[in-house]
Amino acid sequence: MAYYYKLGEVPHKRHTQFRQPDGSLYAEQLVGTLGFSGVSSLLYHINPPTQISRIGEPRPYAPKRAEGVKLAPQHLRTVEVNATGPDYLSARKTMLFNNDVAISLCNPSEQEMDYYYKNAQADEVVFVHDGTGDLLTQMGRIPFGPGDYLVIPRTVIHKFRFDKSENQVRLLVIESFSPIETPRRYRNHFGQLLEHSPFCERDMRPPVELNTETGPGERLVQVKKEGELHQFYYNFSPFDAVGWDGYFYPYAFNIKDFEPITGRIHQPPPVHQTFEAHNFVICSFVPRLFDYHPLSIPAPYNHSNVDSDEVLYYVEGNFMSRKGVDRGSFTIHPGGIPHGPHPGTVEASIGKKETEEYAVMVDTFKPLHLTVDALPYLDENYPMSWNEHGTGNVRKGDMFD
Ligand SMILES: [Fe+2]
Repeated sequence: MAYYYKLGEVPHKRHTQFRQPDGSLYAEQLVGTLGFSGVSSLLYHINPPTQISRIGEPRPYAPKRAEGVKLAPQHLRTVEVNATGPDYLSARKTMLFNNDVAISLCNPSEQEMDYYYKNAQADEVVFVHDGTGDLLTQMGRIPFGPGDYLVIPRTVIHKFRFDKSENQVRLLVIESFSPIETPRRYRNHFGQLLEHSPFCERDMRPPVELNTETGPGERLVQVKKEGELHQFYYNFSPFDAVGWDGYFYPYAFNIKDFEPITGRIHQPPPVHQTFEAHNFVICSFVPRLFDYHPLSIPAPYNHSNVDSDEVLYYVEGNFMSRKGVDRGSFTIHPGGIPHGPHPGTVEASIGKKETEEYAVMVDTFKPLHLTVDALPYLDENYPMSWNEHGTGNVRKGDMFD
């Protein structure tokens, strides 16, 4: 994040003596990105964060690329999927990945994790489709609900606690191997979001309170790095910070706080951009008024994403009335292959005033690979569904790009 924030107690000056009630020093830790050139925070721990008690055997945790997948538009239909696993990490099923980003479905059935988690290599954006609860981190607690993007920078130790609910928890996890940032064109020289940005700092929700855990007992932190989950044990809680300050911390942003940019004629996909990272962007499609030129066509024009693979994840809206695409569907339109509205939908869109649809889009500049875990959800009719005489009955959301 690009603004200063503080929780708990910190010493008057950084790198000076800051003592615990028993007279011992708190352990200061700088967490910084891009060497010492990116954003950073200073944390003050009761215990040295270096004090590992033991290290268990690593577990393989890398996505497996599906072989023999034809180059074609693809549709993954996941609406009928309930739990994808018991706990947060076992439930994460990667659908698509490349060297810059991995996109996973995560529908855990268990309410609370009995371990802590740290991604040592990647920032994570967890989009909450269904479910409420608390994201508990070493930098404080963030309550969350449907529509929240939870942005968790790399190395932040955390765990999820989901509320009891009749609905299955449904999460979209976007793992980024470079820092997640707000779009650079919306920030001024000082890092503040500008007036023409579709959201501002007031919409960002940093941790609300720091619950310092001091109780005894061994704790497990599962650390994801290089396609494995490494097992680190400590004789104290990793949530032992009494305070921190800086620019590096997790936060929430709700898709409903994204203010759409509209115009007289069809606006291009970058108006929906919400986050950016190296070689990919994340966009939010939200309810909005359609174009108001008297001859405007609300449906998008056909386009060739020459350098981009485009992934749309369908959240809420009237696409549910169509056969095929539903809540939780992914459509994948690979670079080099033109895509656009289905037959009849361009004419049908004329005169429509607004849309109520929500979707999350990930556009990558390098090709994505489908995984073995994605294959059971693959809709074989989708690639031919633009053919008016074809057998496909799936409709890509008319109003998405
Ligand atoms: Fe597109």
